[in-house]
Amino acid sequence: MSPTESLLTDDLRAAVRAHFPRYPTKQAVTLPALHLVNERLGYVPPQAVEEIAELLDLAPAQVQDTLSFYGFFKQDKPQGKTRMWICRSIACAACESEELLKYLCEKLGIEPGETTADGRITLEFAECLGACDHAPAILVGETLHKNMTKAKIEELLKTL
Ligand code: FES
Repeated sequence: MSPTESLLTDDLRAAVRAHFPRYPTKQAVTLPALHLVNERLGYVPPQAVEEIAELLDLAPAQVQDTLSFYGFFKQDKPQGKTRMWICRSIACAACESEELLKYLCEKLGIEPGETTADGRITLEFAECLGACDHAPAILVGETLHKNMTKAKIEELLKTL
């Protein structure tokens, strides 16, 4: 890709603009825009931040401020096709989520924060996923998996 080539395709820009009528200001579209870019690119590199800012008539620092507030967005490299978050907050920790995390790390051959060599899965920590009464919980993409066990993880990995 040449240095001047845009990361945001026309299609992606149109998807961001489609949010304008639904929000009171262009600035309010920052978070939806970050999600759209993240979905398409797998991350939000600095060039994309600049392009989003231009699209929203903002300074890049304003977009960067929003981005950096959330641990969800990454900037250094694309995330795996599937992102997997293991809850490590109190209820899940009491139900051995650390054990499940270790098990997953071994199975996938990666550490938390890393992506499998084939780009299939990124493994991450999460704070409370809101399913404390079904601990331990794991979020896979947008699907919450409750009362997880090693056996359930085995089954889950077969589907990814
Ligand atoms: S502590 Fe894990 S879901 Fe709440």
